[in-house]
Amino acid sequence: MTTDGHTVPRTGNGFIDAAHSSLMEHVDAIRRDCAAGASRDSMIPRFSRFADEMRMHFDHEEVIIRAAGFTRWEEHAGHHAMLDQQFGRLIDYVRECDVTSDFLCTVAGTLDAALCGHEIRHDGDYAALVRDASLAPEGRTLIAWSSAFEVGVGPLDAQHRQLAELMNELDAMSRRAAPVRESLDLLGVLHDHVHAHFAMEEGVLRRVAPSRFVAHRNHHRLLEGQFAVIRRQVENGRLDPGVAVRGFLRFWLLDHVLGSDRPTFAEAADAAHR
Ligand SMILES: [Fe+2]
Ligand SMILES: [Fe+2]
Ligand SMILES: [Fe+2]
Ligand SMILES: [Fe+2]
Repeated sequence: MTTDGHTVPRTGNGFIDAAHSSLMEHVDAIRRDCAAGASRDSMIPRFSRFADEMRMHFDHEEVIIRAAGFTRWEEHAGHHAMLDQQFGRLIDYVRECDVTSDFLCTVAGTLDAALCGHEIRHDGDYAALVRDASLAPEGRTLIAWSSAFEVGVGPLDAQHRQLAELMNELDAMSRRAAPVRESLDLLGVLHDHVHAHFAMEEGVLRRVAPSRFVAHRNHHRLLEGQFAVIRRQVENGRLDPGVAVRGFLRFWLLDHVLGSDRPTFAEAADAAHR
């Protein structure tokens, strides 16, 4: 992975590394087109698509590093927010002002340097931790279920466990090089289970902790959006199902259970006992 002579180090998480490569290729193509004299009108949507791809990567990366136990994830998310804001301002300037092609080249170079700088400097902070958390040795179950994942509501715990088992099956399927069609079918089953689970969980939460219901339901909508993006990328052939489950979906599930459900249900139980 190189841009401007710099190398973006691998994090050891195949999903993040693929996203970094894709972003570097994207910004490289933008720089080449700007250098070739592309018009401002043709470049505005290109810049916007690049910013969208970057924002999606940041969103995914935050899920992974949080679930992997990177304690400074909020500080890292702050760097992402700052970059997103800077890029937004630059792109707005290009949209609103009649800029020269030289200026477009400068904008493209700035996007490249700022993103590359972040991937090298800040993503390096979590790389060792994420590399360890992303290891998936042969013969071991991807998500080994543990009582530490339980929220204390039997049917919800059973559903979480089933989601983990479906992900383990998806991992096993990719390791035996099953046809992508089978993985896509399994992703469809997983999708249905995710929806059914969120619906049941929201029903329980509305009864036991109505004050937490709206925020938790909104969080579920975000999670559904993230899942839908991954499924679409696998469907389009842009993402390998094994990379998806090993590099992202398992972190997505653990982040949901440990980072969101457990604290929510623990607080609800505390409030009920007070
Ligand atoms: Fe990154
Ligand atoms: Fe990052
Ligand atoms: Fe849940
Ligand atoms: Fe939840």
